[in-house]
Amino acid sequence: MPGGGAVIYKRACVHGNTGAFVRCGKPWQETLTFWERYDIPKIKILCEKGGAYVKKNQLVVPALKWVGGKRQLVDELSSLLPKSTSLYYEPFVGGGALLFHLQPGKAYINDINADLMGVYSVIKEDVDGLIKELKTYKNESEFFYRVRDWDRDSESYKALSDVKKAARILYLNKTCYNGLYRVNNAGEFNSPFGNYRNPNIVNEPVLRAVSAYFNKAEVHFSSLDYAQALADVKRGAFVYLDPPYDPVSETSNFTGYSKGGFTKEEQIRLRKCCDELDRRGVKFMLSNSATEFIKEQYGAYDIKVVHAKRSINSVGSKRGDVDEVVVRNYV
Ligand SMILES: C[S@@+](CC[C@H](N)C(=O)[O-])C[C@H]1O[C@@H](n2cnc3c(N)ncnc32)[C@H](O)[C@@H]1O
Repeated sequence: MPGGGAVIYKRACVHGNTGAFVRCGKPWQETLTFWERYDIPKIKILCEKGGAYVKKNQLVVPALKWVGGKRQLVDELSSLLPKSTSLYYEPFVGGGALLFHLQPGKAYINDINADLMGVYSVIKEDVDGLIKELKTYKNESEFFYRVRDWDRDSESYKALSDVKKAARILYLNKTCYNGLYRVNNAGEFNSPFGNYRNPNIVNEPVLRAVSAYFNKAEVHFSSLDYAQALADVKRGAFVYLDPPYDPVSETSNFTGYSKGGFTKEEQIRLRKCCDELDRRGVKFMLSNSATEFIKEQYGAYDIKVVHAKRSINSVGSKRGDVDEVVVRNYV
């Protein structure tokens, strides 16, 4: 900007309103979001239509608390993204901290947890129905266990509407102990009641903002094993992988997001899948614990160690800062 004075950038927000913000003496590139950097044709069209471009909605944040969620690391992860790509893939999306932070214009999101992906589909398709249903749910122990145990009878559970199933998962997430999605060997939700004073069972602004994002952008959902979800990824795409972490100790081994868990053999299978992405010319970035085992597995790639506050241990007093790695096949 000649002279380095204040620049006013006019932007269109997710709801179609326009807003303005002021940056003093900063190069314009610094104001670009992932959406804008990675959706060049759309930016061009928007620019041709008077210089406006789509603004990130700050209310688009994880709708669920998720173990291993990357909310505290999004700035660090954003700074490590590739310079350009056409498509965003996140095969272990969980609570989607990075996805919602970046709000890419075209994304493929996946998680093996079908309940979770069902919540995202309902947020997209029927957010009004979901909010209406959630408003009837109570933060009471007896009510909690009644709702939690709907999945004990598989036939009647299957017959529930998608809205009821999604509302149940969101409700349990807000009211169960530590927001922990945990199932037993039979696949039944078994986290106990959290007894919180005032849990935010219906976070209406966030649900509506996430719904608006899903409807405005092109976001594809699937609930598959990550290898299947990545089978057709083409050169030029970008994949962010945040698998269940390699346990840092015997007592921190929460990998039970779904039946089966994530063993050392699983970590090796994932590394081979990353090797295959690399061979295909797909850029990937992967998060995991900074264990010797993981550093060895990804020795052929760029590895950065970052510091994270993790809520992996369900015992509050045992939570703390741990080192994580960010592995990339590009720099
Ligand atoms: C560390 S969490 C992801 C957290 C996410 N980045 C966030 O910000 O909330 C790992 C996710 O991987 C999913 N997962 C576990 N095994 C999987 C598999 N084989 N294929 C796809 N997803 C899997 C789990 O259900 C869980 O949601």
